[in-house]
This record gives sequence, C-alpha cells and structure tokens, in this order.
Amino acid sequence: MNQIEIFAPGSVANISCGFDVLGFCLDPIGDIMRISKTKTPGVSIGKVTGQDLPTDPEKNVASVAAMALLKETPTEFGFQIDIEKKIKPGSGIGSSAASAAGAVFGINQLLGAPYTNNELIRFALAGEAIASGAAHADNLAPVLLGGFTLVRSNKTLDVIKLPNPSELVATVIHPNIELKTIHSRAILKPTIPLNKAIEQWGNLGAFVSALYTDDYDLLSRSMKDKVIEPYRAMLIPKFEQTRQAALKSGALGSGISGSGPSIFALSRGMQTAKKVGEAMADVYKKLDLKHQLYFSKINTQGIKILSQL
Ligand code: HSE
Repeated sequence: MNQIEIFAPGSVANISCGFDVLGFCLDPIGDIMRISKTKTPGVSIGKVTGQDLPTDPEKNVASVAAMALLKETPTEFGFQIDIEKKIKPGSGIGSSAASAAGAVFGINQLLGAPYTNNELIRFALAGEAIASGAAHADNLAPVLLGGFTLVRSNKTLDVIKLPNPSELVATVIHPNIELKTIHSRAILKPTIPLNKAIEQWGNLGAFVSALYTDDYDLLSRSMKDKVIEPYRAMLIPKFEQTRQAALKSGALGSGISGSGPSIFALSRGMQTAKKVGEAMADVYKKLDLKHQLYFSKINTQGIKILSQL
C-alpha cells in the first residue's frame, strides 16, 4: 500500500463530569486526510485546504504526531500528509486530535499496522500536546477507539473503551468564535476544594456506571461540572442560557464541549436532539451570532479508512 485516505472524526471531551479523562466520538463531522509514501525519509505537510494550518512539520500537529511514531519505528521512506480540514481549530470539537490521530493511524496502516489503535494514542499525544500545551488524551482516545472512552491515566496512558447506550444522540452548537485550548486552560485554578472534588468524582463514577447499564436517568443526573465550567462559562457567549435551553427542551445533559466554545448536549433519540438544537440555536439567533449546528449519533467505530492504493 502506498497511499491511504481516511476520515478523522471530531470528538467531545470532558462530557461535563470528566475533565481531561472522558470523551466520545462524533459521526458526521471530521477531516479527510490523505497520507502517501515518499522516497525521501521524514514527514512533510502537502496540500492543506479548508483552514490555514502551519506547513512546517515541526509546527503542524499531524506531522509532530507522525514524527513521534517514526522516531520509534524508523523507515527508509517518508510520508506526505494532505489535509482537507473541516473541523475548525479552536472550536472545541477535537480539531487537533483529529489531525494527530489521523496522521498516526494512516502511517500505521501504511506500515502494515505494527501498533494497535490504543498504542497509537501515545504518538498522537505528542501532536495534541503542542496544540494545547498539555498532554491529555481525552479527545484522541474516542477518535482512535470509537464510542465513549475513559483515560484512567494521562501519564501512563491507560485508556478504556466504554459501552454506548444506543439511543444517545449528541447536539453540538459552535458559535463562530475561536477559543484556543491553551487559553481556556490558562484560566483554570490548579487546585479544587475537597467538597467540589467529592461531587465531581461521584458524578464521574455514576456516569460510567450509567453507560454500562443504559441508565439514561442516572446519566442525566451525572452530567454536572462543578470544577471547570464555572471558570470557562465566561468565555462563551450566553453559555448558561444555551445550556438551560437544551435542558428545557429535553436534553439529558449539556455542557461545554472540550475547552469550548462549542456547547454539546446529549439526548435520547434524534427527534429530541433536533428540538434541543433548535432551542440552542434560538439563543444565538437572538444575539445575531453566527453558529453551526451538528447532530450526531455516537460514532462507535471512530477513525475510518475511505480508500487505499
Ligand atoms: N480536556 C481538554 C480541556 C479538552 O478541556 O482542556 C480540550 O483539548
């Protein structure tokens, strides 16, 4: 195989109660990446469309991740990465994770798949780290493994794929502002009071349990964020009003998608998810704020191959 074309999907990290550890994979939104073998060793960024991304291999998330893989797996040939970037950087739906995961997934396939997708997370993390200033795999894990994932440890990369209650549908609204993860992390406090930590780990444990038992009511009760959202809410126009609009329209839960500015909601069934989306969009229409709205079943497969030569 000399060339592979893949779909690298977006993802929602944190899911309210699991800052830096929980995430799920989106279905309809994602990047198209083409990775081709080249005669010269090393990694280059070829054609980039859709967004303005760095083409310097040391600065592009995809090539940094690719180089991390090739450092451990030297090859006599090299790779060129072309990207149709559809996920806007700074949107909160895993733009950098899609690029980083896509690069290592594609190269791994061209090498005959010496690594499992779970093993690829650690290489992709090198790319993710330059984008956000911190190494966290909560977007990478669902992209590479599909469905819901839990990162037990971002240090040793102990990552678990979780079950997916089949009726869940995500609504994601992206107000057209860019919020860099590095900035929305900079405003967070390094410590949290014990009473808030107790609430948060109670909710996180219950959320995971709800996924295993298809308990939608428990899932709904668990989607709370006492630790991060209170700080980040101020960075997102009408965050609380939009979240409340989602909940009033029947969403099980709603919160900031990753580091924002996108806001996500989880609902039971597409019909409710659509109603929730309309209510969220109404808030932004009144503000005259441009936005995109997405509806997505949970993508249980994650990243996928479109074609190979
Ligand atoms: N867990 C990360 C954050 C996700 O919220 O900062 C965004 O990269």
